[in-house]
Amino acid sequence: MKVFVTGGAGYIGSVAVEQLVLAGHDVMVFDNLSLGHKAAVHPSAELVVGDLANVEEIREAMGRFKPDAIMHFAAKSLVGESMENPWIYLGDNAINGLNLLKCAVEFKVGRFILSSTANLFDDPERVPIAEDERIVPGSPYGESKFIIERYLHWMAKIYPFFNYACLRYFNAAGASEERGEDHTPELHLIPLVLQVALGKRDKIYMFGDDYDTPDGTCIRDYIHVVDLAQAHILALDAIENENKVYNLGNGQGYSVKEVIETAREVTGHAIPADVKPRRAGDPATLIAASGKIVNELGWEPKYPDLKAIVSAAWKWHVANPEGYED
Ligand SMILES: NC(=O)c1ccc[n+]([C@@H]2O[C@H](COP(=O)([O-])OP(=O)(O)OC[C@H]3O[C@@H](n4cnc5c(N)ncnc54)[C@H](O)[C@@H]3O)[C@@H](O)[C@H]2O)c1
Repeated sequence: MKVFVTGGAGYIGSVAVEQLVLAGHDVMVFDNLSLGHKAAVHPSAELVVGDLANVEEIREAMGRFKPDAIMHFAAKSLVGESMENPWIYLGDNAINGLNLLKCAVEFKVGRFILSSTANLFDDPERVPIAEDERIVPGSPYGESKFIIERYLHWMAKIYPFFNYACLRYFNAAGASEERGEDHTPELHLIPLVLQVALGKRDKIYMFGDDYDTPDGTCIRDYIHVVDLAQAHILALDAIENENKVYNLGNGQGYSVKEVIETAREVTGHAIPADVKPRRAGDPATLIAASGKIVNELGWEPKYPDLKAIVSAAWKWHVANPEGYED
């Protein structure tokens, strides 16, 4: 299939592109490189440096490539930033998604996969969190993803050729052999912990140790980025004639303390840790119920356990201590 991947120079997008290429798909990456890296783009994919804010740039690239499918990874995704500057999210994230969708209709692209988020579930009534959990976005970032989910709902109703999947990731982590996590600023727990082991930070801070969890620190569900990419490839086939919504995690939670302890074990480094006050908007526990995608699409995570995820990330960081060259 010809797959148009926005944000394919970013962390998850670049691994998805790699897995698409390995599966025999033809890929065009559309990325403005604001947060991504040219070196992360698989050499078999064509990179178009363009911005989703500019419909003409999308139109030019799509008109030339004529994709069968779109995977939409490109977005700003910092919850904290979205609480300080909501317009980047309620405005830009949503409008960029709309620009992309307008072009999808113009070029009659029948399949669309959205990177959605666990930030739709700020106040879950049941954990693990299933797809039918009530949606309570936790920030303008989460709201921006929900807005695009609603756009997709209406597009599929109005345009018979159009189908979509919303994949709501919990915490993506780990690395493939060649592609890993290099965000600036880095705010994700696993790469931050590994930066301590690499000697780039003195210690790691745990935000709150008085949550209602067994060890008092927040619990999150980590999913290996290659398993996440594989879920996209399965979804590509599954949405030929129907729409799908899946929560994507491992169905198992690990506390911040457990992540740090696992990183100590994997790296052999003491990784000093300290406690800071809770951050606003951090729910105690976020765990996905991933049974739906397992049952419907036969998705089988290859690296469900935390040690495998941290080990993969560590291997990549040791090989690329400064991240990507650019
Ligand atoms: N990392 C996670 O754990 C996680 C969890 C849930 C959802 N998500 C979602 O998954 C997607 C990918 O996340 P990531 O961690 O790989 O992010 P990332 O920041 O590494 O990648 C985003 C990519 O999009 C590009 N981009 C941003 N704005 C653009 C624009 N206007 N035009 C063109 N390109 C643009 C950036 O240059 C970058 O390469 C995001 O949509 C994010 O919201 C991520």
